[in-house]
Amino acid sequence: MSKRKVIYDGKAKTIYEGPEPGTLIQYFKDDATAFNAEKHALISGKGVLNNRISAHLMTQLEAIGIPTHFMKSLNMREQLVREVDIIPIEVVIRNIAAGSLCKRLGLKEGTVLPQPIVEFYYKKDELGDPMVNENHIVTFGWSDPYELEEIVGMSFRVNDYLNGLFAGIGLRLVDFKLEFGRIWGEYGELYLMLADEVSPDNCRLWDAKTNEKMDKDRFRQDLGGLAEAYQQVAQRLGLLPHGGIIDGGGINEQLAAGLEEIENELAKERRLRELKRPKSKPRKV
Ligand SMILES: Nc1ncnc2c1ncn2[C@@H]1O[C@H](COP(=O)(O)OP(=O)(O)OP(=O)(O)O)[C@@H](O)[C@H]1O
Ligand SMILES: [Mg+2]
Repeated sequence: MSKRKVIYDGKAKTIYEGPEPGTLIQYFKDDATAFNAEKHALISGKGVLNNRISAHLMTQLEAIGIPTHFMKSLNMREQLVREVDIIPIEVVIRNIAAGSLCKRLGLKEGTVLPQPIVEFYYKKDELGDPMVNENHIVTFGWSDPYELEEIVGMSFRVNDYLNGLFAGIGLRLVDFKLEFGRIWGEYGELYLMLADEVSPDNCRLWDAKTNEKMDKDRFRQDLGGLAEAYQQVAQRLGLLPHGGIIDGGGINEQLAAGLEEIENELAKERRLRELKRPKSKPRKV
């Protein structure tokens, strides 16, 4: 493994120092965790598939005007991203009732919601990421009303776009979780952008015909076939060659390694030299 400095070793990804100031490298691991890491397993191929899927979806979102941290794919498990100050809020958008919403409100899983719902969770593993509302967020200074409005607006735009994109490949977008971050420009201006990842680890995706689960619920609910389901999502998105890269329960590393350029061809070229670190932070939020 490399000698690069580890900035953060998370549950699903390791964050390394990037090649330029203001950049980071996201390494996608094969670790799967659920229920605040009480449940853990290694699922061969998951990291490669999530790296590809997230790189692709971030690129597509960027193309419709959603600023994202994604810069380029580096190899089958790594991508270069802009370093941001992560806002400690997980934004969840729900279209169909599933997971904790069903438990909390006694809804039947699969109930189509009359309109999409936004929820916020405070990113704090020790507390199990508790649900919070706008009032908590503003009162405790995690964000301000203007930024929050932008975050919610962007999240609904992501929902509209991804709903259509997944519908087009026979998948229902049940719900998903987003993280946002801030960077400060040279003149102290603040930029908000989508960070972390957009993958079947953070989205619930059901097959449109069968309602088969194609996301991390396969792991949470011991349904098996997680890597195969993620591969199916990647294949439907057109990111893998015919036949895929899963080979007898594991990943064919050689095949996977040959795919790294695909996203870079799609990705907009971004100039590293524009990424000067901010000199000062203009406002406290
Ligand atoms: N562009 C970015 N700049 C800085 N930090 C980032 C960026 N994108 C994602 N992160 C953070 O890096 C970490 C990614 O690792 P991972 O998803 O494995 O974490 P995790 O174990 O789920 O922890 P957490 O509860 O903080 O999300 C997360 O803490 C995420 O908030
Ligand atoms: Mg995470």
